[in-house]
Amino acid sequence: MFVHRPVMLAEALAGLGVTAGGIYVDGTFGRGGHSGAILDALHGSGELHAMDQDPQACGEAFRLFGERANFRIHHRNFSQLAAMATEQGIAGRVNGILLDLGVSSPQLDDAARGFSFGKDGPLDMRMNPQAGESAAQWLAQASEREIADVLWTYGEERNSRRIARRIVETRVEAPLATTAQLAALIASVPGPRSHHIHPATRSFQAIRIHINRELDVLESVLQQALDVLAPGGRLVVISFHSLEDRIVKRFMRDASREAEIVDRRLPMAPKAGLPPLRLIGRKQLPGDAECAENPRARSAVLRVAERQA
Ligand SMILES: C[S@@+](CC[C@H](N)C(=O)[O-])C[C@H]1O[C@@H](n2cnc3c(N)ncnc32)[C@H](O)[C@@H]1O
Repeated sequence: MFVHRPVMLAEALAGLGVTAGGIYVDGTFGRGGHSGAILDALHGSGELHAMDQDPQACGEAFRLFGERANFRIHHRNFSQLAAMATEQGIAGRVNGILLDLGVSSPQLDDAARGFSFGKDGPLDMRMNPQAGESAAQWLAQASEREIADVLWTYGEERNSRRIARRIVETRVEAPLATTAQLAALIASVPGPRSHHIHPATRSFQAIRIHINRELDVLESVLQQALDVLAPGGRLVVISFHSLEDRIVKRFMRDASREAEIVDRRLPMAPKAGLPPLRLIGRKQLPGDAECAENPRARSAVLRVAERQA
């Protein structure tokens, strides 16, 4: 059994401001830590629509909460948020959306999913193994330049070019098939090293972000949230990576300033209406106690914004 401890649970619930009878979306069900708390706060009323692109997470959702009349699980990428909301008749009526980004502990801990350099398994890394290209398939055909760019852009891997060259040289003999092969290859490449982390940490993270198009789908879901939220509805996002948090921060900042920007560009134009979002507080970080208890929480950043009328 693999478990996942929800990160910043109290802060996420406070940010959503769950009220009985409300309609909520948990875009990243995982193992349902946040969903379970939302359902508790709903006391059987309202609706909770959970999404996850991982079929295993959806199976767990069904097992845990499938009998609750106010709960639905959707096996979809959250980049289909607006389509899901339209199909369910909740577009423009949602009181809160939660996104707890990245991978879950069960995905990392299960060697068969191929996310971890510490556990040997097939080189997969797809959150949805039923769609798209696995890491092994991508590394077997991507150009040296493309691989180096991914390692640098999403992992800030200083050895990106050398690692990419070694991957391309090695695959001529035999394609990389397992996480242990890739981790050993990266560790064998000479170059600058951090002594604090395993040499494969940054490359694995970068390949995972690329394979799952994590930054593209994040940009897309944030934009869609504006149409899905009801006036006064809350958007709560927990990020674990500086690239993700930068996207969330900029999106919330720009959407809460839109009217100002319009006014500045066209000083004579009639005053624009309210910007689509209002920021609720500043970024929040987990407390020391949570970080000590759950190391995964250490890199978390939570941001909240509210849809304006
Ligand atoms: C950090 S975990 C969420 C944990 C959850 N909040 C809990 O308390 O158990 C992230 C989950 O979101 C899913 N996920 C990540 N990106 C997704 C996306 N673009 N669409 C749908 N699900 C996604 C992953 O498959 C994973 O199960």
